[in-house]
Amino acid sequence: MLHKIINSAKSRLGDRLLILGHHYQYDEVLAHADLVGDSFQLSRLAAERSAGGSCDYIIFCGVHFMAETADILANSPSNLERRGGRRVEVILPDLYAGCSMADMADYESVLSCWEQLSAIIDIDEVIPVTYVNSSAELKAFCGERGGIACTSGNARAVFEWALSQRRRILFFPDQHLGRNTAVKMGIPMKEIIEWRREEARLGGNNAETIKASRILLWDGFCCVHQRFLSGHIDEIKNVIPNVRIIVHPECRNELVMRADEVGSTAYILKRITESPAGSAWAVGTEGKFVDRIAKQNLDKTIVNLSFQPSYCSTMGLITLQKLADMFNPIETGEPKNIIRVNENIAKNALIALQKMLEKN
Ligand code: 13P
Ligand code: SF4
Repeated sequence: MLHKIINSAKSRLGDRLLILGHHYQYDEVLAHADLVGDSFQLSRLAAERSAGGSCDYIIFCGVHFMAETADILANSPSNLERRGGRRVEVILPDLYAGCSMADMADYESVLSCWEQLSAIIDIDEVIPVTYVNSSAELKAFCGERGGIACTSGNARAVFEWALSQRRRILFFPDQHLGRNTAVKMGIPMKEIIEWRREEARLGGNNAETIKASRILLWDGFCCVHQRFLSGHIDEIKNVIPNVRIIVHPECRNELVMRADEVGSTAYILKRITESPAGSAWAVGTEGKFVDRIAKQNLDKTIVNLSFQPSYCSTMGLITLQKLADMFNPIETGEPKNIIRVNENIAKNALIALQKMLEKN
């Protein structure tokens, strides 16, 4: 019934509507997505598909920061000009679908960190880099200071560019993606320090360690990915000795260092899909996604890295019913659940996002 309602509303709306879906969504929701991808691909698609033509609405089946990013890119000044000033409204089917990692860095705390750093080191030597899993305010913070955003798919290219611009990176909110990227680039651990939010002064560091650092990591993390432990690799290898381990870079460094491959959701999907029949993979990322890859690759052995799969509960807030509920308001001209970023914030966040899209 819900599938029928959505399909007929979609055919009535035609090109006026674009549905974007992240890999961590339910299968039944993704069945209605025009495009499915990782954060990098979805950001690029939101920018490109809304550039001209007839798109009026994007329903984003993902989480809040992704919808904000789509709004900023779809309604950039150049896109607005191409469309004669007409906005594309970005709709998130459940406004509570946030990202707990993104919530671990707020603008005031990052600004306070920046000010404390300014008192100790030359702040012009520091480039702020935000993971795209962050608020639009923090993307604007980076845009205003010559910084950049990144996704899990292009973090290395972004870090390399950032370190060609300035001596040090302040990276937020995900300590693991930051550490994994820096370690893979050969930056020594002693030059990678953590800024602990709960500490009253200097994120729990002293002036000397800050002066010696190249990479300063906010101490945020993804609870879905942090659950994977190095011991899970031993357990799975006992059961499937020839298994290859593939994990998302939001996992802990000790796990990433032992994995055979590391990459974004799009990378994981591509790598497993292209591997020969008979291959065996243990996957360290969100459970709904791993189950889907397994169903699509029945000629291979695909298992979750942990015997207790890890699910992103906020991604799971986007249900088929909530998706279906978005159509009647659109068709009666009163769309609901619109995500619209404040104009000034969007202007500066766009600088960081456009640079991000250039690096891959
Ligand atoms: P990807 O960019 O790899 O899709 O990851 C997004 C995310 O939130 C992973 O937890
Ligand atoms: Fe955020 Fe983790 Fe969910 Fe990704 S999996 S959206 S990082 S909470």
